[in-house]
Amino acid sequence: MDKIRIQGPCRLRGTVRVSGAKNAVLPEMAATLLLEGPVTLRNVPVVRDVQTMVKVLRHLGVRSLKLEGNSLSAEGGAAGDPEAPYDLVRTMRASILVLGPLLARLGRAKVSLPGGCAIGARPIDYHIEALRRMGANVAIEHGYVVASCRRLKGAEIVFDDRTVTGTENILMAATLAEGRTVLENCALEPEVVDLARFLNACGARIDGAGTGRIVVEGVARLRGTAHTVIPDRIETGTFLMAAAATRSGIRVEQCDPSHLEAVLDKLQECGVVLRRGPDSITVEPDGALRGANVTTRPYPDFPTDLQAQFMALAARADGVSIVTETVFENRFMHVGELRRMGARIVEDGQTAIVAGPAPLSGAQVMASDLRASACLIVAGLSAEGETTIHRAYHIDRGYEKVETKFQGLGARIERIS
Ligand code: EPU
Repeated sequence: MDKIRIQGPCRLRGTVRVSGAKNAVLPEMAATLLLEGPVTLRNVPVVRDVQTMVKVLRHLGVRSLKLEGNSLSAEGGAAGDPEAPYDLVRTMRASILVLGPLLARLGRAKVSLPGGCAIGARPIDYHIEALRRMGANVAIEHGYVVASCRRLKGAEIVFDDRTVTGTENILMAATLAEGRTVLENCALEPEVVDLARFLNACGARIDGAGTGRIVVEGVARLRGTAHTVIPDRIETGTFLMAAAATRSGIRVEQCDPSHLEAVLDKLQECGVVLRRGPDSITVEPDGALRGANVTTRPYPDFPTDLQAQFMALAARADGVSIVTETVFENRFMHVGELRRMGARIVEDGQTAIVAGPAPLSGAQVMASDLRASACLIVAGLSAEGETTIHRAYHIDRGYEKVETKFQGLGARIERIS
C-alpha cells in the first residue's frame, strides 16, 4: 500500500491549478446512462472514484467509454443487465447515483446497498422513498436495492433533510419521467447546479437548481452533449488551508471563488490575507493566524468536506477554535492522528475544541478516509520533521496528482510505493 512522506515544515510558493470537481463528475457520469448518442465530459479529474465509476458504467453497458487525459467520452445509454454489484459499490458509495438513471432509462435496477462508511451511517432512505413516490416498486433483497417500474411518474417530493446525492439521483430520474416532478428542500450545492446544467444541455427541462425547489418536466429522450465540469471547491479549499497553516503565499488557479464564500470568510476571520480574482485566489504569506469557530452545514455554509483540513489549520493557529460537525455523525477520525502529532484537541460528541498554537511534530499516521488524509497532509506540511501517512489510497479517491501538485508548490512530499 502506498504511503505519503512529508519532510516538514514546508514553505509553499508558486501556483497550483485546481482539477475538476469529483462530486460533480460522478453524478454526471451516472447521467450518461440516461442519454442517447455521443457524450463528452471535459475537465474530468483522474481520481480513483472516477475510475471506479468507469467500471460501474462499463458493467451497466455504457459503450465506447474512454478516459483520455482529462476527457471522458462515451456512447450514452444503459444496456443489458442493470446490476451494480457489491464488489464495485462497496468501494464507492457514490455508485448509488446509478439507481435513478437506471430506473428512468430501463425501468429496472439492482444496486448493491452501499453499507457502512467511515464517516457515519449514511442511509439512502430519502432516495428510495422518493423513487417510490414516483411509482417505482423498491425492495431490499439480499443486500441489494431492487427496483422496477413501467415509466416513472412525476410527483411532489419533499426531502426530510437536504441530501446531495439524493437530490441528484431523483433529479436524474425525473428527467425521463412522465409529467412534472417538484422537489422541495433540495441540496443547493454547486455540483447539483452543474449536473442540472449538463442535463439541460442534453435536452432536459430542469428549473430551479441551486434553490430549494427544483421543477423537472419529464421528456421522452435525452441526447449527448459536451460539458466542462466545474472546478473542485474542496481541492481549492485544501490548498488554501495548506498555505494558511504553513504561513505561505500561493496562487490557486482555475477555481471558482464564488463556490467558497463561507470558507473564504472563515479564513479571513482567521487573519489569512486573500485576494480573489475571477478564477483564482491568492493567499498572502504574512498575516497572523488566529483560531475561529466552525460549524459544518450544507451549502452555502461551511462544508463538512473541509472540516478536517480546517482542524489541522486550527491546531497551528493562535487561540481556541471550536469545530462542530453537524452533517455526519462520525467525522472526527483525524483527531486522534492530529493528537499523535502534538495537536491539543478535546472531543465532546460532535464538537472538537482545538487549543492552538501547538508545535506539531512529524509522526507516522493513518488516513481513515479521503478528507482525513487531506487533513494529515496539511498537518504534515506544517509539522517539524518527517510525517508518513499510511493508507494513501484514501487520498487518491478524490485528489488528482496530490503529491505532484504540492511538489510544484515547493513541498518536500513524496509517494512511497
Ligand atoms: N441522509 C439520510 N438519508 C438519506 C440521505 C442522506 O439520512 O437518504 C443523511 C446522511 O446520513 C447525512 C446527511 O443526510 O447525515 C447528508 O448526506 P448527503 O446525502 O448530503 O451526503 P451524500 O450525498 O452521501 C455528498 C458528497 C460527500 C459530502 C456530502 C455532504 C458526493 C458523491 N458525496 O454525500 O462527499 O460529504 O455530500 O456535503 O457528492 C467527499 O467527497 O469526501 C464526500 C464524503
